[in-house]
Amino acid sequence: MMTGLEITNLKVGYSRNEVIHGLDLKVNPGEKVALLGANGAGKSTVLRTISGLLTPTEGSITFNGEEIGGSNPANLVEMGVIQVPEGRRVFPGLNVEDNLKVANYGKSPDLLEEGLEAVYKKFPILQERRKQAAGLLSGGQQQMLSLSRAIIAKPKLLLIDEMSLGLAPLLVKDFYEQLADLFSEDVTLLLVEQNAGLALKYCSRFYVLRNGELVLESNSEDYKDNPTALQSAYLGVD
Ligand SMILES: Nc1ncnc2c1ncn2[C@@H]1O[C@H](COP(=O)(O)OP(=O)(O)OP(=O)(O)O)[C@@H](O)[C@H]1O
Ligand SMILES: [Mg+2]
Repeated sequence: MMTGLEITNLKVGYSRNEVIHGLDLKVNPGEKVALLGANGAGKSTVLRTISGLLTPTEGSITFNGEEIGGSNPANLVEMGVIQVPEGRRVFPGLNVEDNLKVANYGKSPDLLEEGLEAVYKKFPILQERRKQAAGLLSGGQQQMLSLSRAIIAKPKLLLIDEMSLGLAPLLVKDFYEQLADLFSEDVTLLLVEQNAGLALKYCSRFYVLRNGELVLESNSEDYKDNPTALQSAYLGVD
């Protein structure tokens, strides 16, 4: 049953500290949706919960009709729930190619060959540096590697956490412009960003989270020319 991602009344936090206070959010199959909000709003917490790193204390998360809340992260990866983590976490001590190989976990070696070819075609610099430790790459190259790992993992539901963090604006703009090209259009995407301008260009809908509560949900179209209104929603000023 292709119903995409459905989150209902999600409550989750860290030990006794609840961070998300009953979130309802939906991403239809193949839809590109942004989750926006200021520092500490809870965006990464939501993504970490979808990818199984945190267990909901209440509520439900389904993907294509199947309950995935609290599932084992490795099982979710096999289902195609793939996260590109904040801070582009690669394995710094592994070389570039080994980082990519790990992303093929549980899939056939043929798929890996195919994936490597596709990724090296998109990012030739990764091929050039394939035997170098990933920790020695520049920030931009690490983001390429992090996205490439997701490409190889063949996502059905892709969760991208703040690609813009710590990267030069021009580089980030490049990544956003390439996104449509990097992943097939039937991939369902939930994209976390602090930089709303970028996210709205790529996503057709968005949600704004403030202190773990939804404060706005809209089509991107309605806000493209009104970044100030969006900013107010973030920060809670009128
Ligand atoms: N590992 C953790 N242990 C305890 N509290 C945490 C942990 N990670 C995040 N928090 C708290 O949860 C709240 C939400 O954090 P989260 O990282 O989800 O925000 P965010 O919207 O992703 O922010 P940013 O834009 O800075 O990445 C914050 O108050 C934060 O201090
Ligand atoms: Mg975050």
